[in-house]
Amino acid sequence: MNRITITRPDDWHLHFRDGDMLDLVVPDTARQFARAIVMPNLAPPVVTTAQALAYRERIEAAVPASSEFEPLMTLYLTDETSADEILRARECGRIHAVKLYPAGATTNSARGVTDLRRTDAALAAMQEVGLPLLVHGEVVDADVDVFDRERVFIERVLDPLLVRFPDLRVVFEHVTTSEAVEFVRGGPDTLAATITAHHLLLSRNALFRGGLRPHYYCLPILKRERHRRALVEAATQASSKFFLGTDSAPHPRSDKESACGCAGIYTAHAAIELYAQVFEAAGRLENLEAFASLNGAKFYGLPVNTSRITLDRRPWQVPEQLGGGRNTIVPFAAGEELTWKLGES
Ligand code: DOR
Ligand code: ZN
Repeated sequence: MNRITITRPDDWHLHFRDGDMLDLVVPDTARQFARAIVMPNLAPPVVTTAQALAYRERIEAAVPASSEFEPLMTLYLTDETSADEILRARECGRIHAVKLYPAGATTNSARGVTDLRRTDAALAAMQEVGLPLLVHGEVVDADVDVFDRERVFIERVLDPLLVRFPDLRVVFEHVTTSEAVEFVRGGPDTLAATITAHHLLLSRNALFRGGLRPHYYCLPILKRERHRRALVEAATQASSKFFLGTDSAPHPRSDKESACGCAGIYTAHAAIELYAQVFEAAGRLENLEAFASLNGAKFYGLPVNTSRITLDRRPWQVPEQLGGGRNTIVPFAAGEELTWKLGES
């Protein structure tokens, strides 16, 4: 097969940042995706409806005139998020989810939740009005090994949460382990998961190949090969519980290549091409459309996109870097050749 045509996909988990960075990264996403769930972990984070709507306008201003791209906004859950704020978010019609970052789990999570029980009023309101909770599923306890954080989160936080809020829709974001895949598969219909391209393509060996590789550092951290295989199986088997979420997370090159490098991998420049490569390697290209374009919309209760995209088998080389000055980004697979190329629309 040399050409794939599918319904235009959506990215159900994405970091755009703010300011000048928007002009660099928004066009990459808008070229491929019709919509994206935009993460609220700015500094300071997006905690109110008013802030989310203002952020949405800044993103809109960076969308090229040739694209019809819709940012789907989220709120950042804190210990202080009120039920009223949830109602305001729901009523405005442009906020589609609320994001849980355990405090200290990742980039700009200092204001994250310290104890989920402190957010019960907000969670009850979300359950009531049908606003999904998106979880960064890692515990942050110092005694838990960094490679076990996701598995322990399931036992300590996620499983009890689903029992206490049985009607709350929950997306287990960027799952990275076979335990998470099993948990989502066996879980209720209210539970789904996103999977990134980088966790489908790489195991933790990539972090140390020939030296320390800061551009492969992300959270949750890359895992063993057997976990990567479980993710590929989940993504490509046409289960409606798994869908595309890149977690593309741009950081300036200088913040990645540092004594204390930031977590995050930029994949938005070639996201759908990278996923296509995974599905082809698994012999399941026919299931790419469900994962990329259908399952997420269904879970969020949004219409499936009507436009389509085409990918051609046309090898191309990923640039060594993107942008310039302070906003220089090293993209995923920098300098490497990719098989599939998105057609011009
Ligand atoms: O690698 C990551 N980068 N994981 C996250 O959870 C956050 C993200 C970011 O914002 O940089
Ligand atoms: Zn993320």
